[in-house]
Amino acid sequence: MNTVIEAALGLHYTDLAVDGPVAPPQGDLVDEQAFRSAMAALPTGVSVITTADGEGVWGMTVGSLTSLSLRPPLLLVCLHRGSTTLELLAREGRFAVSVLAQDQHDVADAFARPRTRAAATSCTTADGLPVIAGAVAWFTCQHRHTYTSGDHAIVIGAVAHAEQRAGDPLLRHASRYRRLH
Ligand SMILES: Cc1cc2nc3c(=O)[nH]c(=O)nc-3n(C[C@H](O)[C@H](O)[C@H](O)COP(=O)(O)O)c2cc1C
Repeated sequence: MNTVIEAALGLHYTDLAVDGPVAPPQGDLVDEQAFRSAMAALPTGVSVITTADGEGVWGMTVGSLTSLSLRPPLLLVCLHRGSTTLELLAREGRFAVSVLAQDQHDVADAFARPRTRAAATSCTTADGLPVIAGAVAWFTCQHRHTYTSGDHAIVIGAVAHAEQRAGDPLLRHASRYRRLH
């Protein structure tokens, strides 16, 4: 995405840290495959970001959901810079995050394809936003900031509503879906 488009979308793209410009990496860096393999040892939950526009409901699977702040309540997700969801959620200004249940690996796979539209039957509505039916938790968010670094962007959302229901989450570990037990 070039800077003209970024500006038109109102994105706050920056490579600045709070205390000044980020220095470029120095020296040798780890090989991409070694980095991926080692990170795969870290288990994560699996969530779907959803947004809606005039054309319908769009979703994207993420493993990078993290709680950022309690006061105010903020969360973050890291999205690759080519992601269509990244553009959409900044443009629409709002998005939802659904934490998938352990039997929803087919939902995770479906939304791991680029520019995936959600069937109306797979969603319920919360705060006027689509959330994935059957998710163990969901959050509705206002888009607050987007910061880029490397080939990804950190998207920060201010959480308007959060809900959970009974049930175990879907996990991802060593490039496979897992269950808690
Ligand atoms: C389990 C799992 C977790 C993923 N986590 C992320 C993530 O945190 N960030 C990301 O950019 N892509 C992640 N992906 C890949 C995206 O889901 C994929 O690139 C998707 O096609 C992006 O859709 P979009 O281009 O329509 O936004 C993940 C995929 C899977 C299967």
